[in-house]
Amino acid sequence: MAQRESFGSSFGALVALAGSAVGLGNLWRFPYLVGTNGGAAFIIIYLAFVLLLALPIMYSEFIIGRRSQSNVFGAYKVLAPKTKWCNIGFVYVLGSLAIISFYCVVGGWTIAYLWKAVTFRFSMADTEVLGSMFSQTVTSSTQPLAFMLIFLAATGLIVLAGIKDGIERYTKVMMPLLFVIVVIVAIRSVTLPGSGAGLEFLFRPDFSKVTAGTIIDALGQAFFSLSIGCGTIMTYGSYVAKKESLVGISIETAITDTLFAIIAGLAIMPAVFAFGISPAEGPGLVFVTLPYIFAQIPFGAFLAILFFFMLFIAAITSSISQLEVIVSYLKEEFSMSRKVAILLSMAVIVTFGILCSLSQGVLADVKIFGFNFFDLFDKTSANILLPVGGFFAVIFVGWKMKREDVKDELTSSGIRKYSPLFFNFIYYSIKYLAPIVVAVILVSGLI
Ligand code: PFF
Repeated sequence: MAQRESFGSSFGALVALAGSAVGLGNLWRFPYLVGTNGGAAFIIIYLAFVLLLALPIMYSEFIIGRRSQSNVFGAYKVLAPKTKWCNIGFVYVLGSLAIISFYCVVGGWTIAYLWKAVTFRFSMADTEVLGSMFSQTVTSSTQPLAFMLIFLAATGLIVLAGIKDGIERYTKVMMPLLFVIVVIVAIRSVTLPGSGAGLEFLFRPDFSKVTAGTIIDALGQAFFSLSIGCGTIMTYGSYVAKKESLVGISIETAITDTLFAIIAGLAIMPAVFAFGISPAEGPGLVFVTLPYIFAQIPFGAFLAILFFFMLFIAAITSSISQLEVIVSYLKEEFSMSRKVAILLSMAVIVTFGILCSLSQGVLADVKIFGFNFFDLFDKTSANILLPVGGFFAVIFVGWKMKREDVKDELTSSGIRKYSPLFFNFIYYSIKYLAPIVVAVILVSGLI
C-alpha cells in the first residue's frame, strides 16, 4: 500500500490545525454574534463551552483519526469493523459540505473587499454609503458568484497540492502573518477616542439578556470556531505522527483560536462604539464598519488592504480543511485520485454555493423552515450537524473504544508526565461531561 500522507513537522501540524480553526468564524462570525447576543455574557458562555466541551471533543476526533489513520468514514470501519458506526462518517461529510457551501460565499466577499481596498474604494465613505456598498456587493447575481468561484479555485488548488506541499506549506507562512495584522488593527481600534464603551460591551457581562438562543448560538460558535464536529480534526489528526502530543496540539489550537477571537473582538467592537455604529449590525458588521474605520484613520487605506488580505488568508486556511474531509473520504473509500475527488466535490459545492450566494439577492424569498439557503446552511451546520457529529465522536471514544487504547493515544508522545488524575479528568469529560451537556442543549434547543 502506498505510504499515507502526513504533516512534515510538529509546527506544520499545529499550524494546519490552528489554520483550520482560525478563520471567518473568528473574524466575521464571532464579532457579529457577540454583537447580536449582547456582548460579554455571550463571550463567557462561549469560553465555558470551549473549555468544557470543545477540548474533550477535539481529543476524541484526534484519537479516532490518528489511531485509525483513515478518513472520517474509514476511521470507524478500522476501529469498529463490521458495525454500523461507519455511517457516522456521513454526518461529517454532510457537515463539511454544508459549511463550505456558505463559507465559500463569504470567502468570495473577502476577495471582493480586498479588491475594493486595493482600488481605494473606501476613502471618503460614510456608514450609509458603506452599508449600501455591502448590500449591493452581496445581492448582485454575478459579482459575488465570480469571487466565490475564485475562492473555491484557490481552495481546490491548495488541496490538490496535497498535505505537506499544499496545506502545510501555505498555512505555515500565512498564520503568523495573520496574527501580526490583527494585532495592529486591534491596537488601532482600542486607542480610538470613545472606544471605552466597546471595551465595556466586550468585558462587562449582563446575564439578564441571555436566552436559550444565546446558549445555542454560543455552542454552535464554539464548534464552528474550533472546527470540531465535522471530521476536520479527525482527518487532520490522521496525518499527525504518533510522536506528537495530541493533548498539546489540541490545547495550543484552542488557545490560538480563542486568542484570535478575542483580538478580533478587540479589533472590531471598540471601533464600532467609537464611531456610533450598531453592534447588532449582523453579518455585514466586519464589511460595513471596518472600511468606515479605515477611511478615518491614518494609513487606513493601507490597513484596509492588509485586513482584507488577512481575512482572505484566514478563510482559505479553513476552507481547505473543510474540503480535505470530503476529498480524503472520496479518495480513500472510492479509490479516486485527489484530482477527481476534488473535481467531484467542487461540482456539488459550487451548486450549493450558488444557491447560498443568490439567497442574498434574487432568491431571498425562497425559504426552507423559515430560512433562506445561506442561513439554512449556516444554522443547520453550526447549531445542529456539528454538535451531533461531536456527540458521536465522544460517545465512540468514551464507550466503544478500549480505555487502554484511548490512554495509548493520549500519551503516545512519550510524555508520561500526565498524572492519573489528569488522564481521568480527560477521560471522564469525554465519557460523561461532553455527551451529556451537548445532548441536553441540543434536545432542549430543538424543543
Ligand atoms: N473554524 C473555521 C472558522 O472559524 O472560520 C470554520 C470551520 C473550518 C468550521 C473547518 C468547520 C471546519 F471543519
